[in-house]
Amino acid sequence: MQLQGKRVWITGASSGIGEATARLLAEEGALVVLSARRRDKLEALATELSGQGAEVHIEVVDVSDRAAMAAVGERLAALGGIDILINNAGTMPLSPILSGRVDEWEQMIDVNIKGVLYAIHAVYPGMAERKDGHIVNISSVAARLTYQSAGVYCGTKHAVRAISDTLRKEAIRFGVRVTDIQPGSVDTELPDSIRHDKIRSAVKDNMYAEGSPILKPEDIARAVLYVVTQPAHVDVSELLIRPLIQEN
Ligand SMILES: NC(=O)c1ccc[n+]([C@@H]2O[C@H](COP(=O)([O-])OP(=O)(O)OC[C@H]3O[C@@H](n4cnc5c(N)ncnc54)[C@H](OP(=O)(O)O)[C@@H]3O)[C@@H](O)[C@H]2O)c1
Repeated sequence: MQLQGKRVWITGASSGIGEATARLLAEEGALVVLSARRRDKLEALATELSGQGAEVHIEVVDVSDRAAMAAVGERLAALGGIDILINNAGTMPLSPILSGRVDEWEQMIDVNIKGVLYAIHAVYPGMAERKDGHIVNISSVAARLTYQSAGVYCGTKHAVRAISDTLRKEAIRFGVRVTDIQPGSVDTELPDSIRHDKIRSAVKDNMYAEGSPILKPEDIARAVLYVVTQPAHVDVSELLIRPLIQEN
């Protein structure tokens, strides 16, 4: 029970990495606030976790909705504030830039960059005031590298990494820690957000090539648990985690 008494907000908790992280952190005694757009998924997870004795709150919210995220921030402050934010919600509608899917570019920027900032803005002032807190952003190996058809996605993840490291420096004086976790390929619903048919099947073929085990969401959840349970003087600034078989 390493997180007894801690209040943790996990964005994108309705599936994949966020869901696995919610399970593990709740098991460790945290009060978990689960947010995403799919109410049914959040409710099912909340029922499961509270059945195991966890304290769970749900926030159905689109992270790209600035006003709604500010309202979540106010409700969380009324709850006593958030100790740990797992800034995880993201989307990946990949396509070559020439295909000009401008709406999808904007969606990635709105969710992966602005959504991350809105969540930070919702909890960081309270953390700074209390001189305690931890913000864990889930970027990607795509925060370090670039891949064809992933120009905008990589751009958003590079931005998250840059924001994380800047925030880390600014937050030191407030005793607030910042970590950027960079997963390689993880077996989640993420490739289903690719609406370009050819690219979606190419990405899935590549991720799920026979005999090539990729990461499970639980592998990243354990990394999250590791970073948030270090002694107060330790800041794990970045963590890059690939499946053994992934070269780039
Ligand atoms: N899977 C990988 O290989 C991989 C690798 C590196 C990094 N990542 C990153 O890991 C994070 C989690 O992704 P995942 O792999 O676990 O994929 P996933 O299963 O598709 O989960 C994405 C989560 O984000 C939420 N979400 C998406 N758009 C949202 C929005 N507008 N507002 C609120 N919530 C939204 C989804 O919930 P709703 O649809 O219910 O809103 C879902 O809970 C993402 O940031 C992703 O970029 C994944």
